[in-house]
Amino acid sequence: MLLEYFLFGMMTFHLSGAQNEVTEVFAEAGSQAVLPCKCGPPSARIPAIIWRKDGKSTVWRKQKSGLEYWGYAWSSKTQRVRCPHTMFESGDFSLQIDNVKEEDGGVYSCRVERGVQVIEKTVTLRITRVSVSSSAPIWGSDVSITCNVTPWPLEALVRWTLNDSPFEPQNGAASNTRTAAMEKATGRLTGNWTCVVNYKGQEGRASATLSVQGVIHPPRDDAKVYAAVGSAVTLPCVFSPGLIPSDPVWEKLKPVFLTKPAPGRLPASFSASGPLSPLPSDQSASLKEVGLGDEGRYRCSGVIKGQRLTRNMQLVVAKVHSSVQSQNTGSVTLTCQLTDTGEVTNYEWVHVIYDLKGSRSVGPILEGKTLNISTMSEGNQGEWSCRFYGKDGLLGNVTYHIQQMSGVSGEKPTSVSHNTAATVGLSFLLLVMLLILAQIYKNHQRRKGIFRYPALETIVHTVSNEREERERNAVKKPTRKTSVVG
Ligand SMILES: *[C@@H]1O[C@H](CO)[C@@H](O)[C@H](O)[C@H]1NC(C)=O
Ligand SMILES: *[C@@H]1O[C@H](CO)[C@@H](O)[C@H](O)[C@H]1NC(C)=O
Ligand SMILES: *[C@@H]1O[C@H](CO)[C@@H](O)[C@H](O)[C@H]1NC(C)=O
Repeated sequence: MLLEYFLFGMMTFHLSGAQNEVTEVFAEAGSQAVLPCKCGPPSARIPAIIWRKDGKSTVWRKQKSGLEYWGYAWSSKTQRVRCPHTMFESGDFSLQIDNVKEEDGGVYSCRVERGVQVIEKTVTLRITRVSVSSSAPIWGSDVSITCNVTPWPLEALVRWTLNDSPFEPQNGAASNTRTAAMEKATGRLTGNWTCVVNYKGQEGRASATLSVQGVIHPPRDDAKVYAAVGSAVTLPCVFSPGLIPSDPVWEKLKPVFLTKPAPGRLPASFSASGPLSPLPSDQSASLKEVGLGDEGRYRCSGVIKGQRLTRNMQLVVAKVHSSVQSQNTGSVTLTCQLTDTGEVTNYEWVHVIYDLKGSRSVGPILEGKTLNISTMSEGNQGEWSCRFYGKDGLLGNVTYHIQQMSGVSGEKPTSVSHNTAATVGLSFLLLVMLLILAQIYKNHQRRKGIFRYPALETIVHTVSNEREERERNAVKKPTRKTSVVG
């Protein structure tokens, strides 16, 4: 009996020793919080339980009789507070709070009476929430993202992640502050923001998404757009869904080495409404046929909520330069040339082969910017494509056509593929002109055929008429003479 009491005493001492420590619980606003109150070891005695907040108001309580009461602030229609009975036998009297609010943050205490045993626990519930000044700020407007913890733990460490990677604030701001970003909204702020709070070995988290409104494609200034000379290209300028820019403007900028970019002339084949712009948020433009001189910087802009948003981009033009190495062997060097190679990491050449059915395949890949091939070889005829890659993959390609004239040594390869349309057009024109010439010649011949004899007749006719006249006169004269004589 004495031993039993002694053991019991030890146990209560141990338990009461544990009751002083405050458990920290973090819960994100809107989620479920579980406030632990574990009073091991399991016991068959019926407990009386009371959960209080901030040392005074009752949250929930249960009498030994089994009657349950909810505190005034917690007895709404949708019960947010629960203490699952099924856990009681194992000595677990944890409190569940659904859909936590910032005002739920505070110090909670649980008091369990089991026979003579009284156990008290304290739990601090801290509600985390990320607040943004605006969840859809306009590009260039001020934006701030703040980590809120209620109540705020003074010595807490705060980290930020944006789309699961650590966020490095600009302007040298410390990264462990409650406010992650207080800067002008740009595309780099778009995404899923999470603040991670560390306090006394516990970790709290909260997330919020931010979507900066403006030109989303291209996502940043000075993005490069690649096009082969002679091809068509789309200059992208897509605003966030739902944004309708007013007064959209496209400009070509003069080169940057002049101190300030000034508007230049837009190319002749420029068309402000792109091929795929049924949406007013899509202000993409297009060039029907890119020329070498079209390379350079372009700017699109539009007014959103009284503010002009702009996006600069650079058009990079690719072409193939060919130089004949040897007239005798017909070998040429093809070089892939781009007006800006800053982003290009590697080049490769492929031979594009069409089979009889017209389906396309490519030959083996030849690495390098230049290609030495013989135009005399049958197998080298057709399209050669230079593909150029950046660190994120394929940037574009440019194609060159080799046509071998049988047996003619040193025949120059014909022009770039993209001129095929023009070549076809020219050939057609030539054919039409030839036909017209042929027709004219034929008509001419026919006319000659018809009128050759009539013309002779005329001459004959005239000659005979003349002779007749002369003869008549000759007859008349003697008559007259006679009459005179007579
Ligand atoms: C944001 O990131 C957090 C942490 O990585 C994740 O739990 C949450 O589901 C994400 N939210 C969205 C909307 O993607
Ligand atoms: C192509 O030929 C030229 C001249 O014959 C030579 O200088 C160059 O190295 C060759 N290039 C390749 C890639 O073989
Ligand atoms: C070149 O680019 C065009 C357009 O992107 C593509 O359709 C074509 O397959 C490419 N050609 C090669 C040989 O990669």
